[in-house]
Amino acid sequence: MAPNHRALVAIIVMFFLLLLNISHCASIQTDIDCLRGAEPHGLDLSNNMFNGTLPSNISRFLEFVVNLDLSSNQFSGEIPVGFANCTYLNNLNLDSNQFTGQIPPLIGQVSRIKLFSVANNKLNGPVPNFSGNTSVTKDNYANNAGLCGGPLPPCQAASKRKTWVLLGDVIRKYAFEPH
Ligand SMILES: *[C@@H]1O[C@H](CO)[C@@H](O)[C@H](O)[C@H]1NC(C)=O
Ligand SMILES: *[C@@H]1O[C@H](CO)[C@@H](O)[C@H](O)[C@H]1NC(C)=O
Ligand SMILES: *[C@@H]1O[C@H](CO)[C@@H](O)[C@H](O)[C@H]1NC(C)=O
Ligand SMILES: *[C@@H]1O[C@H](CO)[C@@H](O)[C@H](O)[C@H]1NC(C)=O
Ligand SMILES: *[C@@H]1O[C@H](CO)[C@@H](O)[C@H](O)[C@H]1NC(C)=O
Repeated sequence: MAPNHRALVAIIVMFFLLLLNISHCASIQTDIDCLRGAEPHGLDLSNNMFNGTLPSNISRFLEFVVNLDLSSNQFSGEIPVGFANCTYLNNLNLDSNQFTGQIPPLIGQVSRIKLFSVANNKLNGPVPNFSGNTSVTKDNYANNAGLCGGPLPPCQAASKRKTWVLLGDVIRKYAFEPH
């Protein structure tokens, strides 16, 4: 199966597991009310062999998810900014995958988020600023390509170093290369 199809299958499985989760709901309730009322909206797909990228519209599938554990899979690509639209999300565990790029800063604005963990991926850049009662420690960011900010060393150090490297290149170019 093509990689993106595998990811889509994983997402569709998530969607139906969520529906199964709420199958105890009384028939007089609408699905939406039922989804809102069902506790917990947990979805644990950890330790599977799911791979491929997560769709950017993931919140359409997982709009009411509260606990989502996708740890120890082979998901790759960027963490979709769409997670910021999962407004009920309390716990998001993306540990031990192959995610790359930056963490979308908007994830910091999910007001209910308490646990956020992306250890053992290939992420870089600034970590989100969480508002409210989030206790994200540096362990939750461990073993990535180069994250900074939050509980980790500030990002300025990295960008300053980059400026010096750039300046070094310029000096080398103009001072040492024949014109
Ligand atoms: C996903 O897994 C399948 C089957 O193991 C493999 O053929 C495919 O190359 C993998 N895709 C990615 C993006 O790793
Ligand atoms: C999500 O986006 C894909 C295209 O990227 C589309 O095929 C799919 O129907 C969308 N799903 C929902 C639930 O919006
Ligand atoms: C998030 O929700 C807003 C408002 O409903 C919508 O405009 C936006 O496209 C959504 N973003 C994603 C990534 O799903
Ligand atoms: C987090 O807040 C600090 C200080 O206000 C700011 O410098 C930084 O850019 C913010 N990071 C993100 C990812 O928004
Ligand atoms: C943080 O948690 C405490 C107790 O759990 C609660 O009283 C307080 O309102 C919370 N603050 C925010 C900003 O959610």
